[in-house]
Amino acid sequence: MKTTEIRIIVHEYQNIDELTENDQNLLHEARRITEFAYAPYSGFHVGAAILLGNGIIIKGNNQENSAYPSGLCAERVALFYANANYPDSEVKTIAISAAKNGVLVNEPVKPCGSCRQALAETEVRFETPIRIILDGQTSIMVLNGMKSLLPLSFSKKDL
Ligand code: THU
Repeated sequence: MKTTEIRIIVHEYQNIDELTENDQNLLHEARRITEFAYAPYSGFHVGAAILLGNGIIIKGNNQENSAYPSGLCAERVALFYANANYPDSEVKTIAISAAKNGVLVNEPVKPCGSCRQALAETEVRFETPIRIILDGQTSIMVLNGMKSLLPLSFSKKDL
């Protein structure tokens, strides 16, 4: 028997002003797009802003449905639009924000398992680590790659 430890590194910032100008800009875009989320069932408004290698920023928000599973998270709305329209451009960074009743959530918002899997696919596809910025009142977390958010992930290499 052998035991190994998998470590992940999370950078935490107390305030948006501590981020680089590019990251601040991306996070502001994510915060802004929460306002257009269609979330009448949960009241949980999520926004995602993606910086592509070509410099373009793609935004998305959660789109709910009365048939609940037909809805989609903000991260995948943005990611699939990016991959559909810019199939040759890698995803450099994704910033994610969330608001309840118009107020930024306390704890940094964490993407669901399906969104993690979709982001991991894109990271493998473009062979470029995706930086992830998770927004919250208490702190803003920055992770330098999907391996930190989804260790031991399944990918095409396993097929
Ligand atoms: N949601 C997202 O859009 N992204 C996340 O990271 C977590 C959850 C959405 C799905 C649903 O519309 C609402 O938030 C409540 O789960």
